Amino acid sequence: MSTHERHLVLVGMMGAGKSTVGARCAARLGRPFIDTDELVETRAGAPVADVFVRDGEAAFRDIERGAIADACATPTPTVIAVGGGAVVDADNRERMRDTGFVVWLRAPAAQLAKRVGDGRSRPLLNADREATLERLNTERRSAYEAAAHTTVDTTGLNVAVVVDAVLEKLAARTEPRS
Ligand code: S3P
Repeated sequence: MSTHERHLVLVGMMGAGKSTVGARCAARLGRPFIDTDELVETRAGAPVADVFVRDGEAAFRDIERGAIADACATPTPTVIAVGGGAVVDADNRERMRDTGFVVWLRAPAAQLAKRVGDGRSRPLLNADREATLERLNTERRSAYEAAAHTTVDTTGLNVAVVVDAVLEKLAARTEPRS
């Protein structure tokens, strides 16, 4: 797949801003937007948190793998925001990298914790949200590194600035070489 036909794929921890930034990038690019958590919910017929409770995390990850495969198989260049834990799976990483330009939105745990609010819709977050986010961030660091073509550090940045940064990286990547 040539670079101008690639999807724009956003990865990163819960609270990194993938869905908000992804939707705005899609609007700016005139592309469709897919949030893989929403695809999972449609397939499972239940909110993500309920799928975890009802079927368990392994079942959630199976549905998520299928959702990512479908999203990446979309023929139109699309903006895809994937759930925070999807990068841990090697098949997911391969699909995203093969079909997309993968951007890792980074932020420190304290900021992620503020952005996820009460975290009620995020089943992996218990009472100590910041500590859990810190731990997951550390555990997943090598998977994010392996998945991403580039990173945007969102620390202290508002959504509009992050969107500009992501789109600049995409443009730099897709400019024809002279
Ligand atoms: C998860 C992140 C969530 C969702 C699920 C598991 C994770 O998506 O997929 O709760 O393992 O980090 P967001 O990153 O969109 O919150």
